[in-house]
Amino acid sequence: MSQASIPSHTVIDEALSQRIRTARHIVFFTGAGVSAESGIPTFRDAQTGLWAQFDASELATPEAFQADPALVWGWYEWRRMKVLQAQPNPAHFAIARLTQRFPHATVITQNVDDLHERAGHSNILHLHGSLHQPRCFTCGVGYSFDNEIPVEPDYGRRVEPPRCARCDGLIRPGVVWFGESLPAQTLQQAFDAAAQCDVLFSIGTSGVVYPAAQMPHIARDANAAIVHINPQPVSGIYSDDWMLIGAAGDLLPKLEREVFF
Ligand code: OAD
Repeated sequence: MSQASIPSHTVIDEALSQRIRTARHIVFFTGAGVSAESGIPTFRDAQTGLWAQFDASELATPEAFQADPALVWGWYEWRRMKVLQAQPNPAHFAIARLTQRFPHATVITQNVDDLHERAGHSNILHLHGSLHQPRCFTCGVGYSFDNEIPVEPDYGRRVEPPRCARCDGLIRPGVVWFGESLPAQTLQQAFDAAAQCDVLFSIGTSGVVYPAAQMPHIARDANAAIVHINPQPVSGIYSDDWMLIGAAGDLLPKLEREVFF
């Protein structure tokens, strides 16, 4: 098996259908593309209003939060509002349904939204944390949002972060920032699932941010079938991989129909 610029498998053929039907453990590894059809602005999308003057990577660091907590908290509250206003799309729902068909299924996501959960799958490995699980910057204790949707204007504004009930420290977003480690236990669970699965779907991810991008490689080394779903060919694919070109919201329901009905 070798790295290839042009994959040999580009359709849902019988060989792939067989691998999926007989799989005992399936992994869905997802990125921003899965939420794109829900209208979630991706991390790298152009920012609007106040946010236009900032590079996203300048706001997503512990140093930025320490320097100007209200600016960083305001940006994340704007992103959380966008997520709460959005709905899961057919890709999230197809993944939730497909997980029911196998003895073991693991959903690993790089996304910080909760759209997989709202589509009906509760046990998601969030490699890059979650907008919905903030914690204290000082002592690490979790903080619960009330159920109201924050209303943040699109032109942006600073919002003072809440305070920790235990130590009075500032509450920070529950995401992984640049320069921080991924949550160790979650990462290990993801590595274990990739090493034990029979089929790994890599969906809507550019596959360039490590260590998350290791997942397909670990699964391939364990002889799993690797299926990429993306509107454009992704880099780093191998000749034995399947590369299905198209939107996840179209291709996943199609795959479900062709393989199982
Ligand atoms: P990227 O924004 O790098 O890549 C999104 C991918 O989704 C691209 O390959 C698109 O072609 C693809 N895509 C777009 N629309 C799609 C659709 N409808 N169906 C399927 N695919 C589609 O996002 P990620 O790979 O998720 O990390 O980025 C990885 C990490 O980079 C993020 O989690 C973030 C960032 O740095 C942290 O914040 C730590």
